[in-house]
Amino acid sequence: MDAVKSKKIVAIDDEPEICWLITRMLEEEGYIPLVADNGREGLELIRREHPDLVLLDLRLPEMDGLEVLRRVREFDRELMVIILSAFESFEVAVQAMKLGSYDFLTKPINIEEMKITLKNAMKTKSLVSEVAALKKQVEQTREAAQIIGDCQPMQELARQIELASRHSISVLVLGESGTGKELIARAVHYQSSRAQQPFVSIDCSTIPENLVESELFGYERGAFTGANERHLGRLEMADHGTLFLDEIGNMPPGIQMKLLRVIQERTLYRLGGKAPTPIDIRLITATNQDLKQSIAQGSFREDLYYRLNEFPVYIPPLRERGDDILTLAKYFLDKFNAEFKKDIREISPEAQACLVRYAWPGNVRELQGVVKRGLILAGDVIQLDHLPPELTGRRDRKAGPFLIRTQADEIRPIKEVSREVVAQVECEMILRALDRSGGNKIKTARWLGIDYKTLFNKLKQYGLEGYGKPESGNNGTSKPATLEAPLNHAGCNSLPAEGAY
Ligand SMILES: Nc1ncnc2c1ncn2[C@@H]1O[C@H](COP(=O)(O)OP(=O)(O)OP(=O)(O)O)[C@@H](O)[C@H]1O
Ligand SMILES: [Mg+2]
Repeated sequence: MDAVKSKKIVAIDDEPEICWLITRMLEEEGYIPLVADNGREGLELIRREHPDLVLLDLRLPEMDGLEVLRRVREFDRELMVIILSAFESFEVAVQAMKLGSYDFLTKPINIEEMKITLKNAMKTKSLVSEVAALKKQVEQTREAAQIIGDCQPMQELARQIELASRHSISVLVLGESGTGKELIARAVHYQSSRAQQPFVSIDCSTIPENLVESELFGYERGAFTGANERHLGRLEMADHGTLFLDEIGNMPPGIQMKLLRVIQERTLYRLGGKAPTPIDIRLITATNQDLKQSIAQGSFREDLYYRLNEFPVYIPPLRERGDDILTLAKYFLDKFNAEFKKDIREISPEAQACLVRYAWPGNVRELQGVVKRGLILAGDVIQLDHLPPELTGRRDRKAGPFLIRTQADEIRPIKEVSREVVAQVECEMILRALDRSGGNKIKTARWLGIDYKTLFNKLKQYGLEGYGKPESGNNGTSKPATLEAPLNHAGCNSLPAEGAY
């Protein structure tokens, strides 16, 4: 029963007796049945509920089963569909198979046969996701090898990665935002003898403070209300492999102490657990904060700092990498050409000069965004016009924040005009911060000196909800507690730009 727990199955059939029969069987087998008696409702159900599998009758009033399947394939190519049919022709069966149905069951329904088919389908589904996960892992490994750049500081960095990967010592990766800290952490892992073991990454700035502990250390069943099952923490998931703790400077003090204990004793206690669990991990941490200063301010433990800093690795900012800027730009150009099915091979000499001259406060991530945008805007060659105004120094008059235009003879209430100006400036600032943070709304809010809720409301107000990436690592829980904390970022009223680190 456990294996099928909470698996949703949609059954679409217009015969009430069959729906009843299937529902009863599905419930008995531990699935969640969802039923529709026509194609339109069935489609709605599929869109809304994201089921694991669909049982689809071919003979339906109005929209027949084949049409339903065709429409499903427009938005979900993978969904498993089992066809139910009474006396369809061979051609219809072939068409259903061509549309990627998983199996074909004939009516009258044999419930035992259906149970077996369902079990096999679920097994296939889990194998498919396992293969996809493995593929992703392989891709990440390949990506880890792709550290572009051969200027002198990057050659030195490659040497450091090589040295660090040989021993299981703690590595502290230092560098400005967007310089490639996670990429370097992956490179150390995948070049090390732990490469076949897991690489587990966690961003300390995006997990709510009250969840950090359970996320890291896991919990036993009954440890707290709602802990219905044992849950492995990230530390345990990384056993024999590497744990990457990003933005370590944001780790709450209580957790710092517990982490130190794990490092010293090589064991951990799950929440609510009585016995210690042995653990073997290599720790890689990263920060763009000055941890020495955090120690002086009392927000970071000195003893932990020395344990994490056994092998510091410094990533130079992009502006110090000379021609690597263009090498990286070409690399991203190729990457996005493939992604967007375009064929833009050139960046004009003027645009190249601009790329080299610019200070790149958002580093490689910012360059990546600039190339992506340029490629989308350009017809055949990326020109100056395709670069954002902060690079070229040109401002689009209409989009410029303080250049709201009024008619020559127009007189309007100052309040009204002020509101428009504020809206424009806010919009531009939010978009810029989102761009620079790689779509990270938590960072964006912190940089803008507002809390998460305010950012959320402003995105909604300006119709920008689609911007930014969904926060990862917080298990879909409510907004991170860290955002409610007072802002102490050096530049909370300005973006962490030019050299802020
Ligand atoms: N040398 C490089 N070669 C190729 N891609 C790179 C390089 N450096 C960074 N990138 C790419 O730039 C993006 C940002 O890198 P990454 O996420 O590792 O930066 P970060 O320093 O961890 O940023 P943040 O401080 O914002 O967390 C990623 O997509 C990464 O693959
Ligand atoms: Mg990072």
